[in-house]
Amino acid sequence: MSISKKQYSRVTTNSLSEMKRNGEKIAMLTAYDFTLAGIIDRAGIDIILVGDSASNVMAGHETTLPITLDQMIYHAASVVRGCKRALVIVDLPFGTYQADSKEALRSAIKIMKESGAHAVKLEGGKLAKDSIERILQAGIPVMGHLGLTPQSIYKFGTYSVRAKEEKEAKELMEDAKLLEDLGCFGIVLEKIPSGLAEKVAKNILTPIIGIGAGNKVDGQVLVLHDMLGMTKEFSPRFLRRYLDLDNKISSAIKSYSTDVKSGHFPSKDEQY
Ligand code: KIV
Repeated sequence: MSISKKQYSRVTTNSLSEMKRNGEKIAMLTAYDFTLAGIIDRAGIDIILVGDSASNVMAGHETTLPITLDQMIYHAASVVRGCKRALVIVDLPFGTYQADSKEALRSAIKIMKESGAHAVKLEGGKLAKDSIERILQAGIPVMGHLGLTPQSIYKFGTYSVRAKEEKEAKELMEDAKLLEDLGCFGIVLEKIPSGLAEKVAKNILTPIIGIGAGNKVDGQVLVLHDMLGMTKEFSPRFLRRYLDLDNKISSAIKSYSTDVKSGHFPSKDEQY
């Protein structure tokens, strides 16, 4: 069964608006390296996000805060080299856009120049307004990120569901409207009630990509290592694991080790 309404040889920000208009859902995943980016690009994913979740899954930090701009650029450049079709978006890491809009623009330009990516993503609504405006004015497409914003984890103190109360829900709706008016080409909504996410997606034309935001939005994103089952300890309700790669890799490594120790690897056919 084909669920694509139109074939895209290269996904652009315009393709995403078109997909929303046509009622075609947008599939997005994270990637951080050349090899996996190539595999998921060839499998037909629409958007690859070089997320600052690299700080967790690639570097082993507890939060997304420590990753640097140069580290993000290293990951992003590797992903770009692996991709032919997907739109590649890069997270502006913590500390590279909050101080002022000029610094935000400098960070975005550095990412675009040194990685070859197609767009940036940053967290926040009205507090990030000036930075988003300035980056957009320079011709760099921006994706917003509202709801659970992991770079503010120490402000909130927990990774629990956001915007359950009316006041926060209203603020989120206003922020989403603002991001649309500014000209963001997409918005990630993370870990908010599905009813609220649906309302946002219905009320604005900008494509809404959810993670833990229900299925009434315009697309979904997951962290690659989580959906492949490589991060066993992380198990939020919204996460569907499509593979148990932790076990599969582990059993391959055990077989290899056994073969080496028993002298069964390499065989006659595997030598010169
Ligand atoms: O960094 C990341 O992987 C993200 C996604 C969870 C949306 O921002």
